[in-house]
Amino acid sequence: MLFENIKKQDKLLYDLLLGEIKRQQDGVELIASENYVSNAVLEAMRTVFTNKYSEGYPGKRYYGGQDFTDQIERIAIERACNLFNCDHANVQPLSGAIANISVLTAYLEPGDTVLGFELSHGGHLTHGSPVTFMSKVYNFVRYTVKDFETGQFDFDQIRDLAIKHRPKMILVGYSAYPRDIDYAKFAEIGKEIGAMLWADIAHIAGLISAGIMRNPFDFGFHVVSSTTHKTLRGPRGGLILSKGKVSNPLKKVKKSIKNLPTLVDRAVFPGIQGGPIMNLIYAKAVAFGEALQESFKEYAKQIVNNAKVFEKVFRDNGIIMYTGGTDNHMIIFDSVKSFGYSGKTIQEALDEAGITVSKSTIPFDTRSPVNPSGIRIGTPAITTRGYKEKEVEFLAECIIKICKNPKDDKLKNRIKHEIAELNKRFPIPY
Ligand SMILES: Cc1ncc(COP(=O)(O)O)c(C=O)c1O
Repeated sequence: MLFENIKKQDKLLYDLLLGEIKRQQDGVELIASENYVSNAVLEAMRTVFTNKYSEGYPGKRYYGGQDFTDQIERIAIERACNLFNCDHANVQPLSGAIANISVLTAYLEPGDTVLGFELSHGGHLTHGSPVTFMSKVYNFVRYTVKDFETGQFDFDQIRDLAIKHRPKMILVGYSAYPRDIDYAKFAEIGKEIGAMLWADIAHIAGLISAGIMRNPFDFGFHVVSSTTHKTLRGPRGGLILSKGKVSNPLKKVKKSIKNLPTLVDRAVFPGIQGGPIMNLIYAKAVAFGEALQESFKEYAKQIVNNAKVFEKVFRDNGIIMYTGGTDNHMIIFDSVKSFGYSGKTIQEALDEAGITVSKSTIPFDTRSPVNPSGIRIGTPAITTRGYKEKEVEFLAECIIKICKNPKDDKLKNRIKHEIAELNKRFPIPY
C-alpha cells in the first residue's frame, strides 16, 4: 500500500493526504495554473536525490559525490534547450517567482527601470506589483491593454513609456490573459531604446514547446523565464532560458546581453539560492523528456481545443469574456456583467459543486482584488485527465447553471454528484 509509512507514523497527516487525494479525484480542477503530473514525474520527486547537496553547477560543484547529480542536471538542461530552441538553461530555480527575481538581479542594478505588464490587466505579481519586495529594489513602470473587449496591447503607450523611462528591460508575459503576444512589436520598441527583452512564459510554456504558440526566441528575445508545473506538466519549479554560452559560472562577468547565460547562472547561485533541490531537477528532466514526445504535442493541442469549447458555449450563452475568447488554455470572464455576481461569490459557489476555479481581476476592474469582477478558468488539468470536447461542453453548461443560481444548494449538490460520477471514467493518473 502506498504511504504505508506515513500512515504508521503520523495518522493526522495521513488522513489529510487522503482527503486531498479524494478532493483531486472527485472534483474538477479548472485553475489555469494547475495540472496533474504523470506517475513518472511524481515518482521522480520522491527519489534519493532529495538527500544530496549540489551547490554549484555540473562539473563545478562545491561538494563531492556528484557523479549522478551532474548527469541528471546536464540532461535536464539539454532537454530544456531542445524544448525551447535555445542554448542555455538554468534548471535550478525553486519556483517561478525565484526565477524572475534571478533574472532581475542577473542584469540590473538596484534602482534600474523595468517596463512590465500591469497585474490587473493580466501580468504577474513578480512583474512589478507594489506589494512585492522587488518593486522596492527596482523601478517598475507598467503598461496596460487598451480595453477589456479586445485586450490589445496599447503599443503607442508602450513605446511612449519606453522612450520616457528608458527601461533597461522590457518584460512580457502573463498569468491572466487569453491571447498570444506580438513579440515582434515589443522587440521593435526594445531595439529602439536598447533594452533587454525578457518573456515570462510560465503559463504557456507547454503550449510554446509544443509549437502551438509563438516562441519569444524567434523574435529576438534575450531571456525567457518559466515555471515547470503549469502547461508544461512538470514538478513545481522554475526555469530560465537564454541564448549563448556560459563562460564560467564561478567567475564574475560584465552585465551585458552577451553575458546573460553566465549572469543568470551567477544570479541563481550564489546570488539568490543555496543548494538546488536535486530530486526536483530529476523530476524536471523526466517531465522535459515527456514534453519532447509527440504525444505531448497532441495533449497541448487538446488543451487549446478544450478551451475553445468553453469559449463557444460561453459565447452562445452571452457570457462576457476578456478579449471575447481565447487562443490559449484560459478564459477570463466578467461574472458581474454576465451574471450579476462577483468573482468571489461565483468561485465559492463552484467550489461547493466540486469545480475549482480562481477569481480574477479584469482590466479596469472597479472592485478590489479580494472580491474582483472576474473568474479565470483553465484547461490543462482536465485535459490531462482525458476530458475532450463532449465532457467540456457538459462542464461549461454546469458552470453556467451555477453562475445563474449560485445560492441554489440543491443544484450544486446535484452537479457535484454528476461530476464525481463523470470523474470515475477519467481518474487522475495515480
Ligand atoms: C507568469 C507567471 N510568472 C511567475 C509565476 C510564479 O510562479 P511560482 O508560483 O512558481 O512562484 C507565475 C505563477 O502563477 C506566473 O503565472
